Amino acid sequence: MRKLAAFYFSGTGNTRFITEYLLKKLRPVYDATLFDITTKADFEGAIRGSDTLLFAFPIYGSAPPIPMRNFVHGYGQLLQDKKIILVETQYFFSGDGAASLGRTIKKYGGRIIAAEMFDMPNNLADVKIFPIKNGSEISSKLARAKRRADKFAEKILENRAHCRGFSRISHGIGYYSQRKFWWKGEAEKRAKLRIDPAACVGCGLCVKSCPVENLALPDKKASPKGHCVLCYRCVNLCPKKAITLFGKSPPKTQYMGPVSNS
Ligand SMILES: Cc1cc2nc3c(=O)[nH]c(=O)nc-3n(C[C@H](O)[C@H](O)[C@H](O)COP(=O)(O)O)c2cc1C
Ligand code: SF4
Ligand code: SF4
Repeated sequence: MRKLAAFYFSGTGNTRFITEYLLKKLRPVYDATLFDITTKADFEGAIRGSDTLLFAFPIYGSAPPIPMRNFVHGYGQLLQDKKIILVETQYFFSGDGAASLGRTIKKYGGRIIAAEMFDMPNNLADVKIFPIKNGSEISSKLARAKRRADKFAEKILENRAHCRGFSRISHGIGYYSQRKFWWKGEAEKRAKLRIDPAACVGCGLCVKSCPVENLALPDKKASPKGHCVLCYRCVNLCPKKAITLFGKSPPKTQYMGPVSNS
């Protein structure tokens, strides 16, 4: 059996959901293990012991999230000659989402054998122009994503998978429509996280849930430490809707994630 180590970052569950689904389809041929890159595990051992690696991540402004970029750079020297599968999730548009990480992996000598992009529900809960949907409202979108994963898995197993998003045109679209501006404003965006002290009841849920330990609870009020990676988990989780990131006002509806919806 071929050994596969799958590494994912997921703010609100979409990427984890579709990666778990895909791995189920690959398991007849691959001995696959799934790792959340924000937890502690023997990542080095897993990379060294696998001939195929899968990287899964949500797209942010046509760019990979900071933890996934750091992970790839951190373990880059171990990627030489590894077969790489890329899974990218997005609300509706990225241009070259999967390739945005794939190009970095290639520089470290990884060989991209398959790449797919999955349209998933929106999680930008405080951005008014993008509606948040839950429950039966997202079931058809999730079903479409699963069908795409079925086809993708089938092609991987038959060694004829595509690498979506790797054309020059996709690269240009991803870069000039979003990523160029996203890189410039990323630091500014990370500093935007606001917690309304009047609304916060000090329950600590956001502190426990933040994947990068960016939140603390001094004086029983949540407060950011300044290294938010924009994952939107806390914005969608806070029971008092006290947390805002890109929006001017707190979310009206929070995204519950695909698992609680499916
Ligand atoms: C900071 C941020 C930026 C995003 N930018 C894009 C984008 O450029 N294009 C898009 O289609 N979706 C975008 N999204 C939506 C997410 O990529 C999408 O909902 C993804 O599936 C979330 O995955 P997760 O639940 O695993 O975190 C963005 C979400 C966030 C939080
Ligand atoms: S989840 Fe909300 S209410 Fe609870 S500590 Fe965090 S900001 Fe405060
Ligand atoms: S502070 Fe919130 S949005 Fe930022 S990384 Fe932590 S959970 Fe994600």
